[in-house]
Amino acid sequence: MSKKKKGENVILIGFMGSGKTTMGIRLSYKLQIPVEDTDKIIETMEGMKTSEIFAEKGEAYFRKKETQLLESISASSSRKIYSLGGGTPMLPQNQGLICKCGKVIYLRAKAETIYDRLKNDTSRPLLQCEDPAERIRSLLEMRDPIYMRCADFVVEVDECDQAEVLTKILEYLNAENNPTSEQ
Ligand code: S3P
Repeated sequence: MSKKKKGENVILIGFMGSGKTTMGIRLSYKLQIPVEDTDKIIETMEGMKTSEIFAEKGEAYFRKKETQLLESISASSSRKIYSLGGGTPMLPQNQGLICKCGKVIYLRAKAETIYDRLKNDTSRPLLQCEDPAERIRSLLEMRDPIYMRCADFVVEVDECDQAEVLTKILEYLNAENNPTSEQ
């Protein structure tokens, strides 16, 4: 993605179950800046859970809300951490918006890791199907190149515990904010 001038936000992207919400909270604590979860913002605006929005208004409606939210984040000059829903980067119009929102960090997880974490989850409408392992595998295969294209920084989360993931992100942000004289 083009490296145009970016806001000061930190944007966490990645598949469902990759740890965006948890990592957002930990980063917020470390950096002392607020954290927002875009699923939660949409749920508050709509007065219903994501699964209810999907069931009653449809996925396309939810996706429209995500785009509108990105438009407002990219137009504001905030310094916050945002955890995005796993499907947000999939719409082509969202990809440019995400890059304008801030530094984009991809929490990259393998399909097996995600399945292991989400096999008993009932809150993700896209995984309420007969073969969630296969759904995760096929969605991830399609999505991973898109996440990679949007990302400024990638953390492979499978082999790391949360503290290690946090350290890698903090090191990256620190290096970005304090470029050395080597260039
Ligand atoms: C979705 C991911 C969810 C939520 C919705 C759709 C997706 O967010 O936005 O269920 O398409 O991957 P999380 O990634 O926070 O679970």
